[in-house]
Amino acid sequence: MRLLSLAAAAAASVLTVFAETLVGIPTFNFNATSTAHFSLSSVTHVLVDSRFQNTVDTEGKTLIPPTLLAFGTTFAADLLELGLSVPVEVASAARPGSIFLTLAGDPGVFLDAAGRPTSEGYELSVGTQGVVVAGASPLGAFWGTRTIMQLAKLGGLALPIGSGRDAPGWGTRGVMLDAGRHYYSPSFLTELCAYLSFFKQNTFHLHLSDNLFNNVGLYSRERSLDLYAAFRLHSDDPAVAGLVRPYRFNESYTRETFDEMQASCAARGVTIIPELEAPGHALVIAQWKPELALDDLSLLNISHPETIPTMEAIWRTFLPWFHSKTVHIGADEYDSSLANDYIRFVNTLSAFINATAAKDTRIWGTNEPSNTSVVTRAITIQHWEFFEDSPLVLIRQNYSVLNADDAFYIVGKFSGSYPQTLNLTRIFAGNPAGGAFAPYVFDTSNAANNPARGDPRVVGHVAAQWNDYGPNATVVSEAYYAWRDALPALADKQWGGALTRAQYDSVFGALHAVIPGQNLDRAIKSKGDVILRYDFAIEGDGVVPAADSSGNGYDGVCHACSISDGVASFASPASLLTTPLSSKGRNYTLSFSIKPSSAARIGAPILSGADSALVLGNGTVPHLMLISGNQPYALNYTLPRDVWTDVALIGRGNATFLRAGVGAEMQFLAILGINGESFQWKPIAIEAPLAQIGGDGFLGSVAKFELRGSA
Ligand SMILES: *[C@@H]1O[C@H](CO)[C@@H](O)[C@H](O)[C@H]1NC(C)=O
Ligand SMILES: *[C@@H]1O[C@H](CO)[C@@H](O)[C@H](O)[C@H]1NC(C)=O
Ligand SMILES: *[C@@H]1O[C@H](CO)[C@@H](O)[C@H](O)[C@H]1NC(C)=O
Ligand SMILES: *[C@@H]1O[C@H](CO)[C@@H](O)[C@H](O)[C@H]1NC(C)=O
Ligand SMILES: *[C@@H]1O[C@H](CO)[C@@H](O)[C@H](O)[C@H]1NC(C)=O
Ligand SMILES: *[C@@H]1O[C@H](CO)[C@@H](O)[C@H](O)[C@H]1NC(C)=O
Ligand SMILES: *[C@@H]1O[C@H](CO)[C@@H](O)[C@H](O)[C@H]1NC(C)=O
Ligand SMILES: *[C@@H]1O[C@H](CO)[C@@H](O)[C@H](O)[C@H]1NC(C)=O
Ligand SMILES: *[C@@H]1O[C@H](CO)[C@@H](O)[C@H](O)[C@H]1NC(C)=O
Ligand SMILES: *[C@@H]1O[C@H](CO)[C@@H](O)[C@H](O)[C@H]1NC(C)=O
Ligand SMILES: *[C@@H]1O[C@H](CO)[C@@H](O)[C@H](O)[C@H]1NC(C)=O
Ligand SMILES: *[C@@H]1O[C@H](CO)[C@@H](O)[C@H](O)[C@H]1NC(C)=O
Repeated sequence: MRLLSLAAAAAASVLTVFAETLVGIPTFNFNATSTAHFSLSSVTHVLVDSRFQNTVDTEGKTLIPPTLLAFGTTFAADLLELGLSVPVEVASAARPGSIFLTLAGDPGVFLDAAGRPTSEGYELSVGTQGVVVAGASPLGAFWGTRTIMQLAKLGGLALPIGSGRDAPGWGTRGVMLDAGRHYYSPSFLTELCAYLSFFKQNTFHLHLSDNLFNNVGLYSRERSLDLYAAFRLHSDDPAVAGLVRPYRFNESYTRETFDEMQASCAARGVTIIPELEAPGHALVIAQWKPELALDDLSLLNISHPETIPTMEAIWRTFLPWFHSKTVHIGADEYDSSLANDYIRFVNTLSAFINATAAKDTRIWGTNEPSNTSVVTRAITIQHWEFFEDSPLVLIRQNYSVLNADDAFYIVGKFSGSYPQTLNLTRIFAGNPAGGAFAPYVFDTSNAANNPARGDPRVVGHVAAQWNDYGPNATVVSEAYYAWRDALPALADKQWGGALTRAQYDSVFGALHAVIPGQNLDRAIKSKGDVILRYDFAIEGDGVVPAADSSGNGYDGVCHACSISDGVASFASPASLLTTPLSSKGRNYTLSFSIKPSSAARIGAPILSGADSALVLGNGTVPHLMLISGNQPYALNYTLPRDVWTDVALIGRGNATFLRAGVGAEMQFLAILGINGESFQWKPIAIEAPLAQIGGDGFLGSVAKFELRGSA
């Protein structure tokens, strides 16, 4: 006994510190002062320091930064993902059993890769009684709460005792999504922000206007004027009347929806950087005002006296909508023989944006050689390709440069030049000088083209995803799946983390399962593989319950129905069965027997959900088709009327199939028109529609309705 207590006293007097890199995404440097742990299961409160509850981060990218209390409230709710129901309170000090959120006494100790203070740093201290997060700002504290969640998830709620200090190497970390050539709902984009945020990415660059490739060699002027082109912000301001055509109002963001998106993303530390593209990729502006275009209608004629005033009118309308300190004016891929026009254009707009809204301007690096003028140094250059610019030369000329090199470009579904998912090998070994990729690695094959790691002109890194083949090449969620498995690894590198590939592979699945604020997988909780089964055992007429025999309790209700002998009959155009579910992502098998009546409308829905619908036809053609994002993906198959057919809709990986009767599986395909002159048939992954069966003109009967989580 005596020996044992002496040994314990000795261990306590010699404070051993175990400095280690804890695995998370990103990794986290930590000094463990004990081999003991503190379990979050004993946490009773999230406490927010009363001195700083209303403090906001003014150094970040957003003009609508949440308060420390707002971040604390989000954190407390997020703990539900770990099974913890913990209230948030304001308090003047930590208490036993609390996670105390406060601000650091000296925010100057949190440094970026260039050695400058960053407001995104934080210190995490874990004691035997509780946890303290001290942020350089409320945003820094919020990133600290992400570390707590990740360590807790990986440690079975136990956190090591000790402390660690953390700060991002670079201030801009995230992605760009081409929302010009594909429409994405605000809820989808908000969920993507939640995804980025869990891995401490802070930037969501939204490319809000663009057009399909204007194939000038092939297209007539009329065809160009009719080519898919979109501008996603819809204002009633007469200055932009006609810019968004009425048929696309439903695929545009109003000020209210754009505000909600920006606020929801900011609530998780993610700033939306809006881009309105001109003078190239500007067909949508030429379709509005054809007189402003060059012969290639996708390029604006900057010499035309109305071009710059028109762009100023657009920016004057939308600048008040934007809550970021930086906006992006595009300026990609313009005619290099018009360099002086180009430079005048970007400098004029940048000065206008500064004078009107005191915001910074960003452009894509573009090869525009001029002997007489230069792009103002106040503009940040977003590098994407070495044939357009040299980041190192720009940096030496004192430009700030954001790395968006096409080493990490993705094009949705297909491309002759770019992959469809991020390259994990390149993320973990993409530095030509050795080691992992990092934001200062503009060139992943030649180290001589890269500045030093600590160069202060390197703004950060953004990975871009494009939709070259337009709105029907992919469904909305495929943009997520293109990033899903590898983007968190890139987030570690954008932050300056030290994660290895083996570590990433070992923790990604567990961390993915607890990302708050999103269900991009469209996962459904289930006790087993069978998620839902309606046997239609409860007979009745009118409003009839449909009991779920899976054990999950996802009971439905059939309206204007009759149920008997295991069959639900939909006898009126208003008959429909609603379920408590909405959508199921990959993988799934949705099987049922169906007998559509010959009286059912050709376009009637069999199934509908938030992301898709399975319909009997499109109103004129009776082929079975899935609709997603209002685009039809048809099979060359017609469901027979007035007889029973066993059907299985199958979502397997990146493809979707349908089996009817004993026939072979048929595959739903996207048909991509490549530059208007050739086609590619590619798989498409569409969620199972689950919110309702029938409705809107479906007549017939359904039986043996079952959803499984496997394919
Ligand atoms: C962790 O330990 C290292 C080395 O002893 C020290 O430099 C660092 O300041 C410590 N960090 C914290 C947050 O205690
Ligand atoms: C561009 O606009 C200028 C001024 O209006 C005009 O002279 C010129 O012809 C236009 N260029 C093209 C290619 O239309
Ligand atoms: C914006 O204008 C102000 C006042 O003229 C100037 O001090 C500042 O440098 C400008 N900023 C940019 C980004 O151009
Ligand atoms: C710039 O000057 C070089 C040599 O002085 C000349 O060859 C080139 O054509 C000039 N470029 C432009 C756009 O005027
Ligand atoms: C870049 O900035 C430095 C320091 O302000 C200055 O000495 C140098 O002349 C600038 N270089 C260029 C090309 O503007
Ligand atoms: C779909 O997945 C298969 C294998 O899982 C893969 O080979 C193929 O490249 C993927 N296709 C697309 C378009 O992502
Ligand atoms: C992924 O990146 C590595 C390293 O840059 C490269 O060698 C490889 O070809 C890339 N793979 C694909 C499929 O592009
Ligand atoms: C149905 O699809 C056919 C073939 O693609 C098409 O020609 C027809 O216009 C479509 N009908 C409707 C109402 O969309
Ligand atoms: C918007 O309306 C147009 C025209 O009615 C339609 O073609 C398109 O599919 C709709 N889009 C959405 C997202 O509802
Ligand atoms: C569709 O199926 C019919 C008969 O099943 C067949 O004659 C026709 O060639 C098919 N069309 C296509 C485009 O595959
Ligand atoms: C879905 O199915 C594909 C193809 O069989 C498989 O590679 C993938 O791992 C499955 N995904 C899940 C989440 O089970
Ligand atoms: C997608 O759009 C292209 C035109 O860009 C068209 O040729 C193709 O048929 C469409 N695909 C589907 C599945 O509707």
